[in-house]
Amino acid sequence: MKDIKKREIPQSEIKIQMEYIEKIKQIIENSFLNSGSAPKASVVTFGCQQNENDSEKLKAFISDMGYILTDTTDDADLVIFNTCAVRGGAEERVFGNLGALKHKKAKNPNMVIGICGCMMQEEHVKEHVRTKFRHVDLIFGTHTLYKFPEILYRHFSENKRVFDVINSDGYIVEGINQKRDDKFKAWVSVMYGCNNFCSYCIVPYVRGRERSRSKENILEEVRALAYDGCKEITLLGQNVNSYGNDIENYIDFADLLKEVNKIDGIERIKFMTSHPKDISDKLIYTMAECEKVCEYLHLPFQAGSNRILSEMNRRYTKEKYLEIISKVKAAMPGVALTSDVIVGFPNETREDFLQTVELVREVRFDSLFTFIFSPREGTPAAKMTDLISDKEKHKNFEMLLGVQNEISKEINDSYVGKTYEILVDGVSKNNPEMMAGRTRTNKIVNFTSKGAKQGDLVNVKVTKSQTWALIGEEI
Ligand code: SAM
Ligand code: SF4
Ligand code: F3S
Repeated sequence: MKDIKKREIPQSEIKIQMEYIEKIKQIIENSFLNSGSAPKASVVTFGCQQNENDSEKLKAFISDMGYILTDTTDDADLVIFNTCAVRGGAEERVFGNLGALKHKKAKNPNMVIGICGCMMQEEHVKEHVRTKFRHVDLIFGTHTLYKFPEILYRHFSENKRVFDVINSDGYIVEGINQKRDDKFKAWVSVMYGCNNFCSYCIVPYVRGRERSRSKENILEEVRALAYDGCKEITLLGQNVNSYGNDIENYIDFADLLKEVNKIDGIERIKFMTSHPKDISDKLIYTMAECEKVCEYLHLPFQAGSNRILSEMNRRYTKEKYLEIISKVKAAMPGVALTSDVIVGFPNETREDFLQTVELVREVRFDSLFTFIFSPREGTPAAKMTDLISDKEKHKNFEMLLGVQNEISKEINDSYVGKTYEILVDGVSKNNPEMMAGRTRTNKIVNFTSKGAKQGDLVNVKVTKSQTWALIGEEI
């Protein structure tokens, strides 16, 4: 049996990091004694919810050190970029933003700049930052994020740049605080890493192997959140369906859902991401049975052609995917389905692509996250020769967006005239006179209300639909 404890960073090591926090607190208090105000820090997050979750841990470290967190890098004394490597575009954005920081540091030479996350686990990218962005003071990776206090302390005490990136299958870090961005909705990681090695994807290389957290730690975290007033939990992992597989005779994800479902105070449970190759009938029935588990499933299919799915190393066929979808729809009428799709995988022909469109028309997803294939150095797909032009890929991409937008609008139209339970997120971003929130099916609803507050569960009648959102009134 694989021992969970052996993969956990010992608590003695976490305690050392807490001691570094105290030492930094002293440094900060001394150096800013004269200025009369606490230094400011900004954490900028790129990428997925896993990174959002990691950034909340960094923010807890930083505020415990005595920094005031701010949303802008303009007047920050400490700036951390938590980066994403999943596509070239994400990396370009980081480089652009990092370049801009050089001018800000010229105005505030005491500014400390750190960069961490998935991009730093790519050797060539880390080297590029180290040699070409010399205004960056700290470089650390996904496996050393928990050592941030020590890294910052070394920078202050040795007055030099500090690099701490290791190659590793990964650890589990328990016992560090998290400064949550939202009081009523929270991400809870159930596992880290990925073993699937889809041929296009960098994630397994930068996040290590699959490792599940112990159910006790997960449930304790959810109970503490519920105690603090949290209403909605999203359980996170690159492939939550394989939760527990790395530990002999352990509970599986469906059983974990049942346990979370029992926790008083939590009203809604969502999870992401599921891999079609591992989704079990048991999970589908459990979703239907557990009243707090929402009628919402994000199930990436990536491509509709079996040839491309095989080249992608996804290990399911279009037929298998459609079979799962039928079971999900039968078990949960009205379920909302979303998915990820890649357009322009090497040598995806027009015929292959049209099978993606066909699948989209058959399933009728509520919405899609569509990406153009981006070669990632070190992955098998990056070495494949590709005869398809960028122009054709963009043409296919636009066509897919058009097809999906039509379906999204039609599904949203079917909500009009009906009443749904909404978890209120706050004032609408589009209209300060309205509130905004989400249905259990994850649809955004902007609505008029006479007093709903963030965190309330209210009933809203939908009066109008748009492609991306619904409009309604509280009843
Ligand atoms: N673990 C999840 C899964 O397997 O579905 C998703 C993880 S990944 C962070 C999110 C999405 O990014 C993937 O589902 C895929 O559609 C897309 N993606 C990953 N690598 C990509 C690449 N090289 N080019 C374009 N899109 C990519
Ligand atoms: Fe990437 Fe595939 Fe793992 Fe998802 S399952 S993170 S797409 S390798
Ligand atoms: Fe997430 Fe991007 Fe890393 S999608 S796991 S932050 S490569």
